[in-house]
Amino acid sequence: MTRAVIVGSGSEIAPTRVTNAQMARIMDTSDEWIRERSGVEARHFATPEIATSDLGVAAAEKALAAAGVAKAEVDLVVFATMTPDHYFPGCGTLLQHKLGLRTVPCFDIRQQCSGFLYGLQLADAHVRSGLAKTVLLVGAEVHIGFMPWTRENYAYALGTSDVPPTKEEWDWNSRFRHLVVLFGDAGAAVVLRAAEDGERGVLDHELHGAGADYEKLYVPGTGFKHRPYTDPEQFKRGDHIPVMDGRHVFKMATTSMVEVARSVLQKNGVAPDQLKLVLMHQANQRINEYCAKALGLREEQVPHNIHKYGNTTAATIPLLWDECTRDGRLRPGDLVLMVAFGAGMTWGASLVRA
Ligand code: UT7
Repeated sequence: MTRAVIVGSGSEIAPTRVTNAQMARIMDTSDEWIRERSGVEARHFATPEIATSDLGVAAAEKALAAAGVAKAEVDLVVFATMTPDHYFPGCGTLLQHKLGLRTVPCFDIRQQCSGFLYGLQLADAHVRSGLAKTVLLVGAEVHIGFMPWTRENYAYALGTSDVPPTKEEWDWNSRFRHLVVLFGDAGAAVVLRAAEDGERGVLDHELHGAGADYEKLYVPGTGFKHRPYTDPEQFKRGDHIPVMDGRHVFKMATTSMVEVARSVLQKNGVAPDQLKLVLMHQANQRINEYCAKALGLREEQVPHNIHKYGNTTAATIPLLWDECTRDGRLRPGDLVLMVAFGAGMTWGASLVRA
């Protein structure tokens, strides 16, 4: 039996670290509120010259080096992001070109916070079917373009300007405070290789998609439902910034993540205590604490890094994989469950033997 084994990983964090206290200089929020409600302590944002594809490329270079895989061997690229460099083309071919890969098929995945798991199933299916042998799977995001503040406000937050926001700017930034404090920029990648008859590899997946509640987390503007698809009026209304009903999404995330995790474990006859790690999407530490408790997991089984990076959307799960591999919490042969929930709504879980 052919399986897709994760043979290397790498990650790249955007350079500018912004603390909760710095965010509180330009909107009505506080370190205490953000920490208590979400677990986020700081996030990193990209500088203007860095795009999503750049974080993906840097992460992919490291993943290939860690795997000991030559660029010429890659025969499939899967790039998951909800913040592509351009409306089109997606980041897949940009990464192919910047990395100097052969002209291999490049898929772009846009299932937001579930993007990495959707990409993993696609990569796994290609490997199992014999269509691909060496896959580069990338999740990367640059969320700073969603942020409502002006350049001057951002400089004030970082302490490089003495000009505070006007009352109007303060109110505008505060309108989006429940959303903007959560996100950060990063890229992470894994290399998957076909292996025959071994124990290791991607074992099973379960993915879901349901659009009934899509307006609870979506970007109302800059889409082809509008003619033209973007215009200054949308920008003035703030329609280029995501709308999120946080409480609704919180409830859906906890219910769906617990259900899908239980389902994958049951189908594969795996008890929660047999899992070395459960890599949960990092949207909110409280969501993950709830899920961990409901699934009966021990604290050391559920690593987190939301406090350092915030929600990096498609990058959260490979970023955790990479961190845990580098610090020795994850070793070849360990059984790992990955679980995510995101906009769409989309959710899923994958069972992998590292
Ligand atoms: O990966 C994408 C998927 N997204 C998610 O999974 C997000 C899921 N939801 C959440 O993480 C949480 O709902 C939030 C962190 C977004 C919000 O936490 P909450 O405990 O659900 O707060 P809330 O929205 O019910 O708001 C409680 C209060 C409100 O004030 P009032 O009406 O009680 O006076 C908000 O206006 O907290 C206020 N608030 C804030 N206060 C300070 C909202 N955001 C902030 C903020 N700073 N940043």
